Amino acid sequence: MQALNQGNSALGRRAVLAGVAGAALGRPAIAGDAPLKLGLMLPYSGTYAALGENVTAGFEMLLAERGGKLGGRAVTLVKVDDESDPSKAPQNVSRLLGRDRVDVLVGTVHSGVVMALVQAAREREVLLVIPNAGNAAATRELCAPTIFRTSFTNWQPAYGMGLVLGQRGVKKAAFVTWDYAAGREAAEGFRDGLAVGGGEVTQVLTVPFPQTNFQPVLAQLPGLGVEAVGAFFSGGGAVQFVRDYAAAGLRAKLPLYGPGFLTEGTLAGQGDAAEGIQTALHYGDGLDNPRNNAFRPAFKARAGREADVFAVHGYDAAQLLAVGLDATRGDAESLRPICAAMQAASIDSPRGRFKLSPQHNPVQTIYLREVRHGQNRVIGVAVPDLADPGTGCRMPA
Ligand code: BEZ
Repeated sequence: MQALNQGNSALGRRAVLAGVAGAALGRPAIAGDAPLKLGLMLPYSGTYAALGENVTAGFEMLLAERGGKLGGRAVTLVKVDDESDPSKAPQNVSRLLGRDRVDVLVGTVHSGVVMALVQAAREREVLLVIPNAGNAAATRELCAPTIFRTSFTNWQPAYGMGLVLGQRGVKKAAFVTWDYAAGREAAEGFRDGLAVGGGEVTQVLTVPFPQTNFQPVLAQLPGLGVEAVGAFFSGGGAVQFVRDYAAAGLRAKLPLYGPGFLTEGTLAGQGDAAEGIQTALHYGDGLDNPRNNAFRPAFKARAGREADVFAVHGYDAAQLLAVGLDATRGDAESLRPICAAMQAASIDSPRGRFKLSPQHNPVQTIYLREVRHGQNRVIGVAVPDLADPGTGCRMPA
């Protein structure tokens, strides 16, 4: 990675200046006994509240496994509820970096909100670990040496789902989604996957985020002349959409598919309405690997609920950060060696071991899952070792 090898790079200048600036600001000039402050900006209210809670629980579980330390240094978490509201994001980020003076940013779930974190990471050279939001720009045109993601791009799982349907001979499909970056990018991934088999997405129908009045959209679907419907929804909205889809009698006429967020962490609320739905995701219930077999019961014992992909994202965000901070023995100012170690990391995740692409996004297997008896059972592999295209990423020096 060019940026990390240049002696006069921005990261280099920052590392040299860090001691002086840190002293002026009253921060430790080198890693000392002071706790490392991590700013967790996540949704703890609204339609994505359960996602934020599980990211946090996964992150805290890894910290607990390491005695509350990263790089040998005690960690303090500063949590902010971002409400999945992009209009409040710049202020929330400023508060974390200004008043709270955190050393590292971790966040968030929502693809619109994450843009304020990405902007801060780029402009202020702060280390950012994204534990969910799939906004492609963060690891495409807005990629940066200090921006890392432990989740996915919105394109990845949707591409896997479209690919499977194209292989099955589906020629025309519709896509339904909330109208914001995550949904639009999922629709593109679904379209790209379907196109490999000669299929097309003929309509994309949208609902404003986070509204759940799906009836006008559901009423249009039978008249579209499509064989299948793909959908991006998550959290509370996904519970409502899947229930409404079944209640409208559409399941038998138009099979419903999607990136796995549609049924992830939602099955208790969806009940029978979700049975039989197939989705694609980089995680699923019953994945049989040693890490997952240890992670699932430990998470349940700690959090009192089942793990899901969001818990895995949080756990892996802390694992990746641990790799970086171990490399500097907890000195969060030494960004060059931290970023180099994180870029080279091989993460032993409950989803299966993964590495990062040169743009800092996981290269990972996308599984095909089916809801069976209230679980997202893995029934096959949609795409092995899938990397996001990473288009437009030029790592700045
Ligand atoms: C997103 O906004 O990027 C997102 C939110 C929930 C689930 C998946 C992606």
